Amino acid sequence: MPALSKNPLILGIETSCDDCSVSLVQGYQKVHVLLLDSQHRVHRDYRGIVPELASRNHSKAIFHMFKDLQKKALDCGIDLGRDLDAIAVTNRPGLSGSLLVGTQFAKGLALGYNIPVIPVDHILAHFFSYRIEHDEAYPAIACVVSGGHTLFGIAHDPLRIEIVGRTLDDACGEAFDKLATFYNMGYPGGPVIDRLAQNGSPKAARFSKMPIPKNSYDISFSGLKTAATVHRSRHWNSEFEFSHEHLCASFSHVAIGMIIDRIRLLLQKEHKKGIKTIVFGGGVAVNTNLRKEMEILAREYSVSVLFPSLQYCVDNAAMIACLGCYMYQSQSQKNWNLDFGVQARVPAYRSQKGRK
Ligand code: KG4
Ligand code: ZN
Repeated sequence: MPALSKNPLILGIETSCDDCSVSLVQGYQKVHVLLLDSQHRVHRDYRGIVPELASRNHSKAIFHMFKDLQKKALDCGIDLGRDLDAIAVTNRPGLSGSLLVGTQFAKGLALGYNIPVIPVDHILAHFFSYRIEHDEAYPAIACVVSGGHTLFGIAHDPLRIEIVGRTLDDACGEAFDKLATFYNMGYPGGPVIDRLAQNGSPKAARFSKMPIPKNSYDISFSGLKTAATVHRSRHWNSEFEFSHEHLCASFSHVAIGMIIDRIRLLLQKEHKKGIKTIVFGGGVAVNTNLRKEMEILAREYSVSVLFPSLQYCVDNAAMIACLGCYMYQSQSQKNWNLDFGVQARVPAYRSQKGRK
């Protein structure tokens, strides 16, 4: 077997849902190229993602995106045929048709270049996305908040995350998207609601938080979503006139507040055990209020909070390449098995239920 490169050049491919992305990353932090083709305009009219359209658009986009990446790499003096060490591709979880496009494209390229193809779990990549801009920080409290997932965990290393809480229904970003759809505010809803919330009062509506359960850090957004879409008169404070700004501010206050409450409790438990870092990933991690509140919490407990910047929070292939780099260097599997699946199957997902 040839010697492993210390600073491998990895091509990342991400097609698990509606974003098609390719990226060329050297080591963990040198992102030479990152290309993203979002399908928001395709799915906007349907107010949600249509799986068949997503896979069809991935098949149309991926080849052109790869050709574009190849050109940009040449501009940086990189010849993929000569310099590429491995290809990392999302193989789960996600929409099966979409995953199929990325994994088969990766297999074909790997055959052509005669290099390994590394199957990467999308959620673990979100958990590791902070690493593109920060040094490794383990153990850490880790939180992924995206359009498809909401998970709280203790990260022991990039592939070993003890999940202690998850959403019981909607993902956090999904709740933002559904509220925005209901009130015709646009799609995806998170960025719009975030912007409008800055000019509204968080006290305009009395939405309730789901309390933290006794035995886990689980969370639920469906009650909040229902309260924000129906019975407006029941939840509205009489001194405020209804406006989208007030609605968004009140909704965000409670949605983000529930996340902060869980991180605070985790900190209270884990800080004593020496955990001094919190890492975030996923599209909702760009939320203005979440970042502000986390800064306050971090100061209160003298811990550091590591957020990826916007392009690495949302679905992107750089985080896939970055985790691929770790898996390549640590040779985490002897034979890469490139099956794909809609469910996460890595051992890290076996929840250690219970708050000790
Ligand atoms: O990580 P991501 O690109 O996709 C998934 O893996 O699901 O996250 C997309 C989600 C969408 O639901 C979007 O509404 C939400 O992230 N989002 C936000 C913000 N920006 C994007 N949610 C709240 N505040 C934001 N500023
Ligand atoms: Zn994602």
